[in-house]
Amino acid sequence: MRVRKAVIPAAGLGTRFLPATKALPKEMIPIVDKPAIQYIIEEIVDSGIEDILVITGRGKRAIVEHFDKSVELNVNLRNKGQDEVLRTLEKIEQLADIHYVQQKESLGTGHAVLKAASHIGDEPFAVLFGDDLIQGPEPGLKEMIRTFEKYNSTVLGVSRVTENKVSDYGIIKGKPINGEFLVEDLVEKPSIGNAPSDMALIGRMIFTADIFDYLRKTKINEERKEILLTDAILAMAKEKVVYAHVLKGKWHTVGDKLSFIKTTIEYALVQKDLRKGLKEYLKELKL
Ligand code: UTP
Repeated sequence: MRVRKAVIPAAGLGTRFLPATKALPKEMIPIVDKPAIQYIIEEIVDSGIEDILVITGRGKRAIVEHFDKSVELNVNLRNKGQDEVLRTLEKIEQLADIHYVQQKESLGTGHAVLKAASHIGDEPFAVLFGDDLIQGPEPGLKEMIRTFEKYNSTVLGVSRVTENKVSDYGIIKGKPINGEFLVEDLVEKPSIGNAPSDMALIGRMIFTADIFDYLRKTKINEERKEILLTDAILAMAKEKVVYAHVLKGKWHTVGDKLSFIKTTIEYALVQKDLRKGLKEYLKELKL
């Protein structure tokens, strides 16, 4: 089975980043000079997938506009001889075949992925959260596609976290098999000392289409008042073969303020034109 389609749930409210996210979708917050969602779309395209479905919601027009052709702006830039900027914009417009579906209410990540069902049909597909980035020499999704093609089973992207962070994430219990892990359990935010491993589930997954059956059966999580993708994943892992793949690149999340600042610094430090100046500035701060 080939993975030809990817879904980006980007309809969340972004409450951890208010008031910045009141009118600006958190997926559009720039990391150095590109919105977070553009890095994700580039990761998808560099992994060989060209059919992308973005789940959007209220107040998310900026996402659609960012990837749309901006005829007027392009004409203006051409008249002013700003060819380099023009080429950058044209590249964005030609990145991929991007489709959009509305999630009218932010009823959770599981509810958002379910909105993709008719676009996906019965094919396997990738899911990439709009606020999780992977920084590394190879696109994270490409690594996961190789694992999927080996087993033709659902593959969850995981990243190792330090012991004091396990209680912030869903943690995988898995049996090692040829460098991957066969998922036996998924424990939501375990207390420190009770985590089954140091492998946190991140916003990168490749699903077989039967995830939709599990999503349809998933009940609303009473505490969060949302249909959670992790609940459907757990139900699936109990009945089906599900693998976890430890991503080689570094995982960054940009959905909260501190993570956003750390991510911005790390992405700036790998840019040739910024690295020297930023390092000097950080030294000047004498922290
Ligand atoms: P988060 O779990 O970070 O939720 O979503 P959130 O609601 O956006 O943010 P907070 O917790 O209020 O700060 C992970 C990804 O799933 C999308 C988000 O846009 C984000 O890219 N999402 C979340 C949806 O598409 N729909 C939802 O109902 C919830």
